[in-house]
Amino acid sequence: MTRLHVDGVPVELPPGASLLDAVRAAGTHLPTLCHDDRLRPAGSCRTCLVRADGRTVAACVTPATPDLAVETADADLRSLRRDAVALIASALPPHALAAATHSELAEACRELEIDADTAAGHPARGRDDSHPYVHLDRDLCIACGRCVRMCSDVQGTFALTLTGRGADTAVAPGTGGPWATSDCVSCGGCVDTCPTGAITQPGPGRGLTSGRAPADRVRTTCGYCGVGCA
Ligand code: FES
Repeated sequence: MTRLHVDGVPVELPPGASLLDAVRAAGTHLPTLCHDDRLRPAGSCRTCLVRADGRTVAACVTPATPDLAVETADADLRSLRRDAVALIASALPPHALAAATHSELAEACRELEIDADTAAGHPARGRDDSHPYVHLDRDLCIACGRCVRMCSDVQGTFALTLTGRGADTAVAPGTGGPWATSDCVSCGGCVDTCPTGAITQPGPGRGLTSGRAPADRVRTTCGYCGVGCA
């Protein structure tokens, strides 16, 4: 076991754990916009910054090593995390942070007291509603890559990629055409992991909200995809 301290709280973790695991074990919540426990960490959004033995690091990609002193709570760190979330939010349209929106990004903004006016928008990139079960609002995409990793690493479908550069980067079908002509198998993994509501499924209760649906563990027919046929 690895023993270390988070804000003075002793925690014990199994080998291979990250500082994010340590922070959570200590009962502290951090925004983690590019991270999903089911995916390999990317460390790209910098919203999970902590200090470890004096160095500022992204908790999700930093291994937990013995005797580290991890800090999460001081004003400088909170300010760095707030700036990272605000920078991401600033490129989105205002409805991305509306009070009724339950996405991870909207929740992070509320937690860090980032005003909805921060979302000033970006030149419209448009929607792709060509697929019957998966819809994409490119204006809400923050290019975190979670959907791409879910599609490739978990579902093994490799239907999605990130295209564009800088602020124009957004998810797109790897085939280059509309979603309906992609290799998408409608598993819903991308909808499930999207932290902004950019990828949604039509139907009651989904709409432009966070994709994470209440989950039950069930035995499925094929055993590998996320649709849940029993
Ligand atoms: Fe750690 Fe994005 S969640 S860098």
